[in-house]
Amino acid sequence: MLSPILRSATMSSTRSQLNAAAATRLSSIQRHLSTTPSGSRIERMTVFGAGLMGAGIAQVGAQSGLKVTLSDVTDKALENGLNIISKSLSRVAKKKSPDDIEGFTKKILANIETTTDAGKAVEDTDLVVEAIIESIKVKRDLFGFLDSKAKAECIFATNTSSLSVTEIAESCGKERQERFAGLHFFNPVPAMKLVEIIRTPQTSTSTYESLKEVTLRIGKAPVTCNDTPGFIVNRLLVPYLLESIRMVERGDATPEDIDTAMELGAGYPMGPFKLLDFVGLDTTTYIAQGWRGKAASGQISKELVEPIELLDKLVKEGKLGRKSGQGFYEYENKK
Ligand code: 3HC
Repeated sequence: MLSPILRSATMSSTRSQLNAAAATRLSSIQRHLSTTPSGSRIERMTVFGAGLMGAGIAQVGAQSGLKVTLSDVTDKALENGLNIISKSLSRVAKKKSPDDIEGFTKKILANIETTTDAGKAVEDTDLVVEAIIESIKVKRDLFGFLDSKAKAECIFATNTSSLSVTEIAESCGKERQERFAGLHFFNPVPAMKLVEIIRTPQTSTSTYESLKEVTLRIGKAPVTCNDTPGFIVNRLLVPYLLESIRMVERGDATPEDIDTAMELGAGYPMGPFKLLDFVGLDTTTYIAQGWRGKAASGQISKELVEPIELLDKLVKEGKLGRKSGQGFYEYENKK
């Protein structure tokens, strides 16, 4: 059976009708949740990793009134995270509070504290969201350490885009594994409305309900997926991005023409090469590499993630996209 949103999409393909359908769905879930007894309410959130994703997650939490602790291993990383947040907040303030940009930014920043002390960061928190390096070992070490430091009711979530949530959760005790899930945000976090909630076989219903409720409270639309490679978005997006690079490698079309084609012919906000540069060629490479292991066990088709010489060459040369000043395109200002 078609879901309401899919049914309405079938009836009309205009963007405004789709947006209206999504908004209706969001408010109907919000109404449902406000009357459904669910897990405990999350008021304090701790985010590990002050990079682009972690900073974005801390920002949207703080903007919706959560008390946020942002933690990373160095003061420099935290300072960088706060800079990302301040820049993004002034962008938001231009629309929400054009007469008092500084006051708006200050008020939101007051909801964020920072620390390099991981144990202290989770002392009294209700939700941990981890957005650190995509290394299973480093993530497992962090969660294993936090398991004994956080209160028993605290929910642990990982923002991993390519690793198994179940394998990360197994670094914690049995009870915490019931309070463990994936919470996958999209870049740029302040602008992208979606959050994927990933349930492992151990994730309890009350954990899932709490995560759904807090996701809505921070103004995002949740979707749910099992713990499978790439979840929903990346499972579809990454093969499309890789196939675009193969097209250029074969000489079928230029990056510029493929971008124009997908923007004007398919209505995507960014063509695949602008998006590859935006996400980072290294990030896409890590995901594809990680999936090659899954292809060996039949979880994903091998052909989808075959290595691509052109991509590997650019990464080797340090051409990682916008952040390095060059990827498929050149950029004056690194982001
Ligand atoms: N902070 C705050 N607000 C921001 C922002 C930021 N960093 N970036 C964009 N915005 C806001 C703008 O202020 C604007 O708000 P408004 O509509 O209320 O005026 C809105 O977002 C649109 O921004 P712009 O007008 O500047 O520019 P565009 O209309 O070109 O949109 C974009 C920019 C939102 C990035 C759009 O191009 C887009 O959606 N691109 C695709 C991004 C995408 O696919 N992301 C997912 C990547 S995959 C991923 O993250 C998964 C991971 O696991 C790899």
